[in-house]
Amino acid sequence: MKLQKLILNNFKNFEHFEAGFHPQVNGFTGNNGVGKTNLLDAIYTLAMGKSYFGLTNRQLIRHGQDFYSIKAVFQRDGDTFEILLKYREGEKKSLSVNGKEYPRLSDHIGLIPVVMISPYDRDLISESGETRRRFADRLIAQYDKDYLNNLIRYTRTLRQRNTLLKYFAANGTFDAARLETYDEALARYAAVIHTKRQQFVQSLTPLLNEKYARIAGTGEQPGLTYRSTLNQIDPRELLHRNLERDRLLQYTSDGIHRDDLIFTLNGHPIKKFGSQGQQKSFLIALRLAEADMLFSRKNDAPILLFDDIFDKLDPGRVRQILDYVKHRRFGQVFITDTHPERVSQLLEALDRQAGIFEL
Ligand SMILES: Nc1ncnc2c1ncn2[C@@H]1O[C@H](COP(=O)(O)OP(=O)(O)O)[C@@H](O)[C@H]1O
Ligand SMILES: [Mg+2]
Repeated sequence: MKLQKLILNNFKNFEHFEAGFHPQVNGFTGNNGVGKTNLLDAIYTLAMGKSYFGLTNRQLIRHGQDFYSIKAVFQRDGDTFEILLKYREGEKKSLSVNGKEYPRLSDHIGLIPVVMISPYDRDLISESGETRRRFADRLIAQYDKDYLNNLIRYTRTLRQRNTLLKYFAANGTFDAARLETYDEALARYAAVIHTKRQQFVQSLTPLLNEKYARIAGTGEQPGLTYRSTLNQIDPRELLHRNLERDRLLQYTSDGIHRDDLIFTLNGHPIKKFGSQGQQKSFLIALRLAEADMLFSRKNDAPILLFDDIFDKLDPGRVRQILDYVKHRRFGQVFITDTHPERVSQLLEALDRQAGIFEL
């Protein structure tokens, strides 16, 4: 997939931005705060329907305005996709492809495969399981619609079950049959999600190994462990077992919404034992593995968004990575950096033509 053209209105710090892009490499350069990362987030938001940074639609509107829009033209094998995302305060967000609005935003997920590599990836290691679940969910959803549909239904049903538990507590009542309909549905969705997450971890692990070895050498062994109570117990049984506790707490205390993904190096959690450098290498390897996985599952090269890549790696390593990207014939890369010379030197070294945008 290639991004040909991008037009922003009132998106974050941009009142208006418009540019056409090079099919292989594009660099955004400029001082801190000019909006380099925001441009990558605009591309990401259009592809995924959500900001990479988890910002709400209101937060994406330029301060003092009441709407934003992101429009882009993408191309794949001679097919053109014009995607338009619009949000006006107080209204529903709308997303359309070639002038036709999607009935559901989730229908769009997967059309534009995209991978962001950003300094904020460190949250994947340092923050709670929710961050890592989101990583897995966003990646799997891009190549598996069935996963996404089950996840959406699970989330909705979970909310309903929790509302019912609160209702029981508030009214001093209990209706086992009513709860049972939710439990039955939840267990069904959970079983699908759990199996697909297991398969996901299995397929991602060898890719992660390969990328990590490329970046950091072969001395250390990275790993992924899927932590889930459902590894030990069937989802129906789990809900049953936790019933008294859930009634007391007035929410569903365990299930696939509590799963986690543990990142390890030589079998030890990287969060506790990994050095800064090892953590950075791990995160880049993880993102490159993500890109590989998307590429093979979708048979379409994802758009790579490298934010402040030199922050993580020395120029030699960056060059090695881009060289690798080039040889894998990845679609298109967008990189940001504060130094225009560093970017143009890098691209010269790669013998690549590029579009450089000084913001
Ligand atoms: N909703 C918004 N409205 C206006 N400006 C915003 C909004 N969100 C972020 N910004 C501004 O965007 C700038 C940061 O842009 P960013 O892309 O992170 O810069 P860079 O990556 O070039 O350092 C900051 O000056 C911030 O105030
Ligand atoms: Mg930035």
